[in-house]
Amino acid sequence: MDMSVIDTILNRHSYRGRYTDEKVSRHDLRVIMEAGLAAPSGCNKQTTSLIGVDDKKILEKIISVIDPPVAETAPAMICVLTQRINAYRDKCFVIQDYSAAIENMLLAIEELGYKSCWYEGHITDDDRICDRIADILNVPKDYELVCILPVGRAESEINVPIKKEFNERAWFNGFNTNETEYRVNFESIGGFGFTSKKVVYAVGEHVEVIFNAIMTDTSYTFHVNVDYFKVTNTGSTVHISFIMPDHDVDVSYTSKNVMMYEPNTFSNSMNPAPIDQNDKDSWICPACGAKNTAKFCFECGTPRPKKDGE
Ligand SMILES: Cc1cc2nc3c(=O)[nH]c(=O)nc-3n(C[C@H](O)[C@H](O)[C@H](O)COP(=O)(O)O)c2cc1C
Repeated sequence: MDMSVIDTILNRHSYRGRYTDEKVSRHDLRVIMEAGLAAPSGCNKQTTSLIGVDDKKILEKIISVIDPPVAETAPAMICVLTQRINAYRDKCFVIQDYSAAIENMLLAIEELGYKSCWYEGHITDDDRICDRIADILNVPKDYELVCILPVGRAESEINVPIKKEFNERAWFNGFNTNETEYRVNFESIGGFGFTSKKVVYAVGEHVEVIFNAIMTDTSYTFHVNVDYFKVTNTGSTVHISFIMPDHDVDVSYTSKNVMMYEPNTFSNSMNPAPIDQNDKDSWICPACGAKNTAKFCFECGTPRPKKDGE
């Protein structure tokens, strides 16, 4: 497995399905736990402790107290403990400490090809399932069990949740700063599995390509010549998002029919385009030379230049 940290972060999703019978080696479990312990902690108080569970009988005992059951088929589990002590004066950072440890472990789990889910709400609710798990594991009373992470190979596909768009939650140089938005219709990359309508949607440097998918062909792989891109399948559409690099971007896909479709190339130009004086309704895009009548260049997304008085 050769993934960068960013790939691993972008590929991680909560998995709540069944696990295969494949065991998690003690080596892998330890690597994951070491990643957790390597996380930062407030004033380096290291308030997080971990118990790896790979003994089938103990796992069965734990599962028996989780109601409604989760992670029933997981071949291993990591239980996260915290000691509620202050970092300095009355400042307590234990939640931040164990959250950083958990995220580190979720990423290590992903990197090693396993799946997991951060189960905290389910076990720390009023019925205090966490305390019953702590008793099974002989956890002393000055430690609190706050989370369980199942670890194993996924048996089924992962459900990718819909997340808000970048510009709804993140901005540059101020809160909710408006950046130029533009849309581009670009030629179909054609072929099996997708309708011809493609839209490139760009907000500043952030580019989103939306494909209207015909769901009979669900096993496709997208190829985009940028370092990091995210593919989100929301049912009838596939969104590809990435940061626009300083080179043209080719988007293509391979379907389960093992056909490679011709890439679509597009480039991101924010330069205003001149007006074609011979035709009041059309304009020539300065970036790519295409003649347009719409608000944005259908080839490359350049906005139509403002006319006098606009
Ligand atoms: C503090 C915290 C508690 C969570 N508790 C639960 C839980 O009890 N049960 C569960 O199924 N998922 C739980 N999750 C997972 C979230 O539901 C999940 O991260 C979220 O839906 C986003 O999905 P993603 O992890 O695939 O990005 C928890 C996540 C966090 C950060």
